[in-house]
Amino acid sequence: MNRTILPLAAVLMVAGLVTFGLSQRPWAPRSDVAQPIPFSHRIHAGINKIPCQYCHEYARRSQTSGVPPVQRCVGCHGAALVGGLQPVTRPWMDHTQPPFEIRWNRVYTLPDFVRFTHRPHIAAGLACQTCHGPVQTMDRIEPVHEINMGFCLTCHTQRGVTTDCFACHF
Ligand code: HEC
Ligand code: HEC
Ligand code: HEC
Ligand code: HEC
Ligand code: HEC
Repeated sequence: MNRTILPLAAVLMVAGLVTFGLSQRPWAPRSDVAQPIPFSHRIHAGINKIPCQYCHEYARRSQTSGVPPVQRCVGCHGAALVGGLQPVTRPWMDHTQPPFEIRWNRVYTLPDFVRFTHRPHIAAGLACQTCHGPVQTMDRIEPVHEINMGFCLTCHTQRGVTTDCFACHF
């Protein structure tokens, strides 16, 4: 009896854990992320109309590279007319951050089993706001859309883009 029950129980337990793990969606975009500098998209992209891609040169998947390096900030803030260096150098004053680097915390993250790249989306002429909402009005980045599989598939179906599992999953 044990010979069938035990393996079955083990399989059910693993399946249960996997379902539980996935349903927690630890990768869901977060709205409670605190940043080392109170950087405002409303001030930069909104009021001062700095184009998104000036800072997010090549929005691409990685821990940090989608977000501009400090040099990009200093390019403007080195000049006294935009408030000076102080707003940009502030995180190093209390030694919680490594010098000359700003460690921004991620808001949007997809799980590793999903393949997403910005390139085909930008090339197809989609505005950043389609997925990220009206970022130019936000002081803090707040996810507007729940980025889940349904969100991807709804648009792909509407636009006749691939819905092949392996286009998005390895
Ligand atoms: C293209 C120019 C430009 C770039 C690049 C830029 N900024 Fe700014 N920043 C501005 C302007 C203009 C203001 C508004 C200044 C004002 O109203 O006095 C501003 C304001 C700010 C403020 C608010 C200042 C305050 O006194 O509270 C902070 C903080 C800030 N920027 C941080 C950054 C960081 C961090 C980066 C790099 C990720 C960056 N900026 C990149 C132009 C720029
Ligand atoms: C002056 C530089 C600058 C400009 C212009 C700018 N951003 Fe950003 N962006 C940043 C910085 C710095 C961060 C990291 C801090 C944060 O999340 O607020 C960031 C973060 C983000 C994030 C969250 C990334 C993540 O997952 O953590 C998104 C989405 C984003 N920007 C979209 C946009 C869009 C859309 C525009 C144009 C409407 C834009 N940005 C314009 C500098 C900029
Ligand atoms: C089709 C939807 C979509 C569009 C359009 C889009 N993004 Fe994203 N963006 C995402 C998703 C999904 C992620 C999370 C990617 C991940 O975790 O691998 C993301 C992540 C980011 C990040 C976090 C850092 C990174 O490189 O992953 C930044 C910054 C960002 N996007 C900026 C932009 C900007 C700027 C534009 C317009 C030029 C834009 N996005 C257009 C869906 C989109
Ligand atoms: C608002 C519409 C929209 C949303 C939302 C969207 N996509 Fe796309 N996606 C497109 C378009 C348009 C293309 C470009 C198709 C082309 O180049 O022919 C594309 C292309 C792709 C490709 C390349 C497909 C290929 O044929 O090589 C992948 C992979 C992809 N998307 C994944 C995703 C993932 C993952 C998400 C969700 C996180 C997502 N997309 C959300 C519209 C969207
Ligand atoms: C256009 C991109 C895209 C396509 C096509 C796609 N998926 Fe997904 N899938 C995602 C994204 C993004 C997630 C993770 C986000 C979420 O739902 O939390 C995901 C999550 C999943 C999960 C984890 C459970 C869940 O719902 O979160 C499973 C299982 C899955 N996909 C199976 C499939 C299968 C099977 C197919 C083919 C019928 C498929 N996917 C096609 C984008 C896609």
